[in-house]
Amino acid sequence: MSAPQQPGEQRTETHPSHPGDSAGGTGVPVRGDNSGSVVDEYRTFVVRALREPATIGAVIPSSPVLAREMARVVPTSGQPVVVELGPGTGALSGAVAERLPAAGRHIAVELDTGMVEHLRSSMPWLEVIQGDAMQLGKLLREAGVDSVDAVVSGLPWSLFSGESQTRILDEVGGVLAPGAAFTTIAYAHALGLSGARLFRRRLGRAFDEVVTTRTVWRNVPPARTYVCRRPSRR
Ligand SMILES: C[S@@+](CC[C@H](N)C(=O)[O-])C[C@H]1O[C@@H](n2cnc3c(N)ncnc32)[C@H](O)[C@@H]1O
Repeated sequence: MSAPQQPGEQRTETHPSHPGDSAGGTGVPVRGDNSGSVVDEYRTFVVRALREPATIGAVIPSSPVLAREMARVVPTSGQPVVVELGPGTGALSGAVAERLPAAGRHIAVELDTGMVEHLRSSMPWLEVIQGDAMQLGKLLREAGVDSVDAVVSGLPWSLFSGESQTRILDEVGGVLAPGAAFTTIAYAHALGLSGARLFRRRLGRAFDEVVTTRTVWRNVPPARTYVCRRPSRR
């Protein structure tokens, strides 16, 4: 749910079209198109992961199957605003774009400069904000958005302190519209570890409803997703 754009107002990026729309040779970026190759995507991901292991938190991007599972929370009608946190090279972005209606808005909040540059060149239809998910409310207000209809997270929670996790979950809860969902990845092999259990408890404190989906085996590593609704601090 974004505020109407004012004359002369500038926004971070534009996203004028929709999968299936034809650019008609106009050079207008078509939402969902990925002009980067898979090789580029993997190269960027691995290079950034090696340079910034404490920020990236994985060595390869999520699979298309996991991306589709994550994107199930994206509304398919109306003018929804969807936010992706930690999009990386955009492994989840195509699946989000595929579901998002033409009038929707797709905003990605990414901290890492190399990832931001990659997204801006390979997915020019994506509205990329370089910033920290810990400042989500402020970043969205600056982009003219006061509430959102879905948040899809690829953030590396295990790299964050408990305080940072709680802060980001509060920021997410603060921007979600009533009935909107937040979804995030839970690696299956780590579910029993104390860090993952503490994070699950934090989700339970931040949201009234947390659903754990079935395991997506076609991902490295296999993963589940948490789908959370009704922030408990609103
Ligand atoms: C594990 S990668 C996930 C990338 C992609 N979503 C996927 O599923 O393949 C995590 C991403 O989160 C970004 N990130 C880490 N901390 C962040 C923060 N505080 N705010 C925004 N993005 C962050 C990293 O730079 C990285 O691109």
